Amino acid sequence: MSSYDLTRFLAADHFSHALRHDVQHGLTASPKTLPPKWFYDTRGSELFEEITRLPEYYPTRAERGILMSRARAIAAITQARTLVELGSGSSEKTRLLLDALRELGTLETYVPVDVSESALDAAGKALAVEFPSLAVHAVVSDFTHGLDLPTGPGPKIVAFLGGTLGNLLPEERAEFLSALRGMLDPGDFLLLGTDLVKDPKVLVAAYDDTAGVTAAFNKNVLAVLNRELDADFDPAQFEHVALWDARQEWIEMRLRSTRAQSVKIRALDLAVHFEAGEEMRTEVSAKFRRTRVADELSAAGLRLSEWWTDSQGRFGLSLAVPR
Ligand code: SAH
Ligand code: TRP
Repeated sequence: MSSYDLTRFLAADHFSHALRHDVQHGLTASPKTLPPKWFYDTRGSELFEEITRLPEYYPTRAERGILMSRARAIAAITQARTLVELGSGSSEKTRLLLDALRELGTLETYVPVDVSESALDAAGKALAVEFPSLAVHAVVSDFTHGLDLPTGPGPKIVAFLGGTLGNLLPEERAEFLSALRGMLDPGDFLLLGTDLVKDPKVLVAAYDDTAGVTAAFNKNVLAVLNRELDADFDPAQFEHVALWDARQEWIEMRLRSTRAQSVKIRALDLAVHFEAGEEMRTEVSAKFRRTRVADELSAAGLRLSEWWTDSQGRFGLSLAVPR
């Protein structure tokens, strides 16, 4: 008997207000910026899944490799009855955890949380069928907007995979980790996936693939603005840029205007001018070292208890507990 439901956790108009606010703020700033959560409409989530299968995009394969070898240990250590996953997307790698916890027999509830309702709903429905003894409670929410979420019986694991922590700016990360710490009771665990610092050539290729899928993903945010805010961006007049910032230790994704142009965002009654060659930041993807992960967890009141990497040391998976 499978059980599935989906809850829209934020007010009905939250996302339209937040998008308006972010675009008004980001496109009148200098340099211009947009927050990454707006990539993930239905098309954006599909493009991200395509990215995960690209030969250059190693993080998904590396993290899956760690989970394949460690999922049983994670199940045995945590004895989790509830698994909450933030930014769960397709929940593809999560199946490894669900399998291990099912084998152990402790897991009752899975709570995937994502801004992308289409990805969340498809994954949640499929998982409820694949795991008939599991209660799947999908939650549409924004994990940067409070983590006072419905969960389930403890002990629980809160998983945050895919290196998505790196998509937050350092101050946002600190705030997010503190809020996450607030979700955990004694006996609960955080399972965190972080991509690691490595050869910049490997990093840049992962965010600038030869097939152009990442470029299409980056430009998709312009289509979101055109549709949601009645804007008139011409994606053909923008180029995808991915560069390694060695000081910040992050990959930065930008959209570069190929010529001087003015774009109208009618829903905001806003005209935005781009100089020829002007670049707008659409995302950062920070890369970590073990010490930095441990320090940032510690600053949020968490203690790193296990640290695993793939055989090539490309990606880190941490298990942390409340201090
Ligand atoms: N965990 C998956 C997906 C990673 S991509 C994996 O490892 O492959 C990042 C995911 O986080 C996407 O599914 C996206 O829709 C979601 N996301 C991005 N920003 C978010 C936010 N602010 N709140 C909730 N979900 C968010
Ligand atoms: N969490 C993913 C990462 O940082 C998201 C991502 C992968 C991404 N490729 C991207 C975001 C390209 C924007 C553009 O690796």
